[in-house]
Amino acid sequence: MFVDDSDTGLVIAGLRRYNLFTAAFFLGRQRSLHAEFVRTVGAGPGQRALDIGCGPGKLVRALGTAVGERGAAVGVDPSEIAIADNRRRDLAPNHRYERGPAQDLPFADAEFDVVTCTFVMHHIPAAARSAALGEMWRVLRPGGTLLLADASPGPVMRRVLRPLLGGDPFAEVDIRRYTDGVKATGFTGLEYRQSRYQTGILTAAKPASV
Ligand SMILES: C[S@@+](CC[C@H](N)C(=O)[O-])C[C@H]1O[C@@H](n2cnc3c(N)ncnc32)[C@H](O)[C@@H]1O
Repeated sequence: MFVDDSDTGLVIAGLRRYNLFTAAFFLGRQRSLHAEFVRTVGAGPGQRALDIGCGPGKLVRALGTAVGERGAAVGVDPSEIAIADNRRRDLAPNHRYERGPAQDLPFADAEFDVVTCTFVMHHIPAAARSAALGEMWRVLRPGGTLLLADASPGPVMRRVLRPLLGGDPFAEVDIRRYTDGVKATGFTGLEYRQSRYQTGILTAAKPASV
């Protein structure tokens, strides 16, 4: 499903398998989770939204609906396969897909009002994660909002998965691990919430006066 490129990250290769996996993991409720991401990051009409590590592009499409035709929803991912697939399937004029890694984003400073990055931080090489946070800061406009998310199953799902997966791999991906890094980058107003859809969500603001 993923190819390990040590410089870039754990890059998606099997979109079909990934879609099957997420359908099972989110018990068919991924649309509701994406709606929660869109609400939580505050994407609205006319805004420019970026989804980093967009994979199959479902969140880009949800963001695109929220920002409407006067806005823009952009997905970026280092996976050539994912970008080609999204470009082929998604012809909405306000959606765009670009190839690139979070640690070296192909966008101008302050180009976006909101930035999302879901289930991706643990795919970025550990040594490049603070550079990735720096890039998120750079491409967000002052006053913009960042949303990071990763898997955080509830206690029942954890109990079911623990014997299957051997231990608790979710401690490793807990999005709260990035709290200090997000603050050190300059973001303020950090908030964490546990979604009912097996996901932890961390939001932060780039202060309006920087
Ligand atoms: C688990 S998938 C998440 C896909 C999508 N964001 C979602 O919510 O379903 C992780 C994604 O991160 C991408 N990725 C891996 N290394 C990356 C990097 N350095 N920068 C940005 N994305 C990366 C992969 O190619 C893959 O699409």
